[in-house]
Amino acid sequence: MKQAIYTSLGASLLVASLFSAPVFGAENPVPVTVSIKQTGEPISPYIYGQFIEHLGECIYGGIWAEMLQDRKFFYPVTGETPAWDFFKIGDDAFSGAGHPLELLRRSPWMILGNKKLFSMNKDNPYVGAHTPTLDLGDKGMGGIYQERLAVVKGKKYSGRVILSSSGNATVSVRLVWGSGSTQFAVKTFEKLSNEFEKYYFDFTADNTTDNARIEIIASGSGTVKIGTLSLMPSDNIYGFRADTMALLKELNSPVYRWPGGNFVSGYNWRDGIGDPDKRPPRKNPAWTGIEHNDVGLDEFMVFCRELNTEPYIAVNTGAGTPEECAAELEYMNGDATTPMGKMRAENGNPMPYDVKWWAIGNEMYGNWQIGHMTVEKYLEKHQKVVDAMRKVDPNIIGVAVGDLGSGWSKKTLENCSDHMTHLSEHMYWQYNPDIVKHVSRPANEIKWKADGHRKLRQELPALQGKNIRIAMDEWNYWYGPNVFGELGTRYFLDDGLGAAIALHEFYRNSDIYVMANYAQTVNVIGCIKTTKTHAEFESTGLVLKLYRERYGVTPVAVSNVPKPLDMAAALTADQRALTFSVVNPTSEKQDLTLALDGATFGNRAQQWVITGPERRSYNNPGEPRAIDITSSPVSASGKLSVPPLSITLVSYDLK
Ligand code: AHR
Repeated sequence: MKQAIYTSLGASLLVASLFSAPVFGAENPVPVTVSIKQTGEPISPYIYGQFIEHLGECIYGGIWAEMLQDRKFFYPVTGETPAWDFFKIGDDAFSGAGHPLELLRRSPWMILGNKKLFSMNKDNPYVGAHTPTLDLGDKGMGGIYQERLAVVKGKKYSGRVILSSSGNATVSVRLVWGSGSTQFAVKTFEKLSNEFEKYYFDFTADNTTDNARIEIIASGSGTVKIGTLSLMPSDNIYGFRADTMALLKELNSPVYRWPGGNFVSGYNWRDGIGDPDKRPPRKNPAWTGIEHNDVGLDEFMVFCRELNTEPYIAVNTGAGTPEECAAELEYMNGDATTPMGKMRAENGNPMPYDVKWWAIGNEMYGNWQIGHMTVEKYLEKHQKVVDAMRKVDPNIIGVAVGDLGSGWSKKTLENCSDHMTHLSEHMYWQYNPDIVKHVSRPANEIKWKADGHRKLRQELPALQGKNIRIAMDEWNYWYGPNVFGELGTRYFLDDGLGAAIALHEFYRNSDIYVMANYAQTVNVIGCIKTTKTHAEFESTGLVLKLYRERYGVTPVAVSNVPKPLDMAAALTADQRALTFSVVNPTSEKQDLTLALDGATFGNRAQQWVITGPERRSYNNPGEPRAIDITSSPVSASGKLSVPPLSITLVSYDLK
């Protein structure tokens, strides 16, 4: 029945697009009509999903509050400089359009004092492959330091260092924020144990600088080993950055996909559990950085709890095995009597997490994916993974890997429809100098995928009686220089316009899209960007926040839409208000008349507008916003004026 209703909405939208007339600047003589009775399927709340990946500065440097680079000494400390180097990934738009970005290429730790006293000891390292060791002899002094830490005057920082000493040594930890003789704070630890122990410190910075330094200086006799150390702003929320978390709370996404992305196909979830200081640092298997393994399954669940959002966990079907995917699920959902559930309980979380959403692999169709194989071989593996996972928890919602364009979706649906709940699709778009093409491309492709899946539903016997829907669990623009680390591309006002139209298209195809995850969230092609001390919404983040907060749930048909404007509308759950949105990519204000078919305007209407000075305006963390949301009451008569280059969302009370 719902499908029939959708068809009437689909048909009227088609009519609307066929007969729409351009209005550039002129008052539209034909009213835009919202037909309240022509409803589509309710918009899935999961359409407003997000994605975070262990890549670039998304987790480490964006969401996680650790201030130190390479805190577990993945790279040997050699004193060689420079630690950071400029690196050009490639000339194409996905790789940064030929613009180099600065990446950590070797250890950021430098040696203090006599280098001969210093070594990377491989015998029983505290964590990883080696432990920095100072051999002070009968009487000596030496240490290590790291620069480029950002501190803010008056702000408190907390840390710990893990040390052992074979002799009689004293270790001082100093936070240095200037070159003057008093511009530092110090904490000294004496009578160190022969066994590794954690020593804690707090400092309040008395200067604002992005080039503060932490020093660990040992003096006395014998050897001193530095197992690992950590430094975070004291206002961190269970290890997460307070400023980023505040914006993520505003973003209010109902679901987060994690940990990848390409990353997951080389990720061993066991590396990310247990004592964080003992978890091994590794080379990121898919990207340029180090995986510190400070954020693992349990931390991700804390993140979800703090944001009141649902977890959507991707398992490794690349290098991983069915057994390991099942063990991971048992770690999350098994009770404390199961082997993995017991392990979770020992790690401080006795209650099963009951995670429902599971991504069975990522982009296995691509030759860039770790473990890539032919579709035939992969589907055998997919089935084994799902069988093993269902034995642990038969109630999971499993999302299989799909790709409509290459035919991978068709084969997966044909052969594995009983081994999935939904199917994933991904989409990324690049810049188009023609603004109308730039902003309309996402919608065209979202519709193309929806139509393709509807066709498969008709064609494939395996799909009869099933409702396998699309989880577009990666979608976004992705192009241009990496300003915020690896894949840290910037978003502009026109990208925000395109993101709003993309949401309109998900609404227009609400029968088939069960989930969509804006990819990604922080820094890495993210709708939030951070520096070391500030976080800010991009244009796209403001759109996602506004629509999630305000939009109705039952889409209704909109006709007579003057091109190149894009419009959508939805009723709220109680049907007492209508949300109506307009994206205006033109450089002129547009005056519209809105007619309601099947309802009458009530007394009140409130509008929210997102706009900025020009097409390529953008926000920068720590600076006043060039693009923002403004709100004001508007006439409830159906007369509406939308500014140039804007997104306007109006909530009309209905009688
Ligand atoms: O989001 C960046 C990358 O794009 C993801 O890791 C991968 O799934 C996709 O190709």
